[in-house]
Amino acid sequence: MTQIIFEHVVKRFGSVTAVNDVTLTVGDGEFVALLGPSGCGKTTTLRLIAGLEFADEGRILIGERDVTRLPPRARDVAMVFQDYALYPHMTILENIGYPLKVRGVGKQERTERVAEVAQQLQIGDLLDRRPGQISGGQQQRASVARAVVHQALCFLFDEPLSNLDAQLRLEARAFLKHLQHELGVTTVYVTHDQAEAMALADRIVIMNYGRVMQIGAPLEVYRRPANTFVASFIGSPPMNLLAGTIDLARGLFRLNGQEPGIDLSALFGRLNGKLTDGQTITLGVRPEHLTPQVEPSPGAIPAQVYAVQPMGGEVLIVVRVAGKLVSVRLFRDEPPDLPHEIWLVPDLNVSYAYDADGNLLQ
Ligand SMILES: Nc1ncnc2c1ncn2[C@@H]1O[C@H](COP(=O)(O)OP(=O)(O)OP(=O)(O)O)[C@@H](O)[C@H]1O
Ligand SMILES: [Mg+2]
Repeated sequence: MTQIIFEHVVKRFGSVTAVNDVTLTVGDGEFVALLGPSGCGKTTTLRLIAGLEFADEGRILIGERDVTRLPPRARDVAMVFQDYALYPHMTILENIGYPLKVRGVGKQERTERVAEVAQQLQIGDLLDRRPGQISGGQQQRASVARAVVHQALCFLFDEPLSNLDAQLRLEARAFLKHLQHELGVTTVYVTHDQAEAMALADRIVIMNYGRVMQIGAPLEVYRRPANTFVASFIGSPPMNLLAGTIDLARGLFRLNGQEPGIDLSALFGRLNGKLTDGQTITLGVRPEHLTPQVEPSPGAIPAQVYAVQPMGGEVLIVVRVAGKLVSVRLFRDEPPDLPHEIWLVPDLNVSYAYDADGNLLQ
């Protein structure tokens, strides 16, 4: 059982709290992605697991063992660093085979296992070179190969694919997903790239300023963001967020207090008792849950077309709503012929209301 447990972990660097009261459990064999903006504490979280940093407060367990004060070598974790850290004086073969060598695996077996992993990561023909003689993307894959060649208790990846071009990145992503399926090694994977987090992870942890903003399965987090930070971070383009006030008695939502109001009574009904008349809320609707129409209706939001972008299999329409840009996604290839003034009908079954602090009302 290799679960990783954080109990109220805090890590400070001077006045910066890089990891702020993080509590989470990564289950045995689970693949968890840490996602969040630059500086939110992702790398620090990984380094705490690896033992490269020590927590100021709280406890960290790997398996049944409290490792909070244990040095890295006592933890048996394999980490791929953000800057890949290969040994410059060793060949790629020696680099990848190093974790096997220190565990006493013989040369023949070592070479075979390295060749197999290197092949899958498409660096099989670079094994006799040194790190300085291959590209950044190739170094990065060598670093991934070195981490996975030995089956450690857990894998820690820090943006392992960030230097690859789009095609290689998709291939390496598929390799990692396949590997996880085959080996089932507990994995914590840091990325900026939400599509990568969605595609790979069993659960995603979204962080901001050292704090956990939401933990959940990819679709859970996508469908029901727990707060406006997550709503505006997940999805490309992200969820549209429209602030306005509510007229509870009439079931209306007003974006700027002037227009007749949009009928949100179905949504308000679902939030029975949670709302007060005149309250300011933020309405959250995904671009794919807005349907444009050319006539007004009680539940429709008035909008002006700003830009129409054909994307291949879908069309992205950017409109102005009460002075704000809002995205609409249509799953069709031909752009529709729309007048300047349109109305958007939100699917209220999959739209959400957030309170003034940005927390989901439910
Ligand atoms: N050794 C250090 N000394 C001082 N401050 C540090 C140190 N390491 C990290 N920090 C600070 O802690 C915070 C979290 O840093 P961390 O590297 O964990 O972020 P990150 O989420 O990995 O960001 P990125 O996506 O840019 O890699 C940042 O404000 C960073 O400046
Ligand atoms: Mg980082």
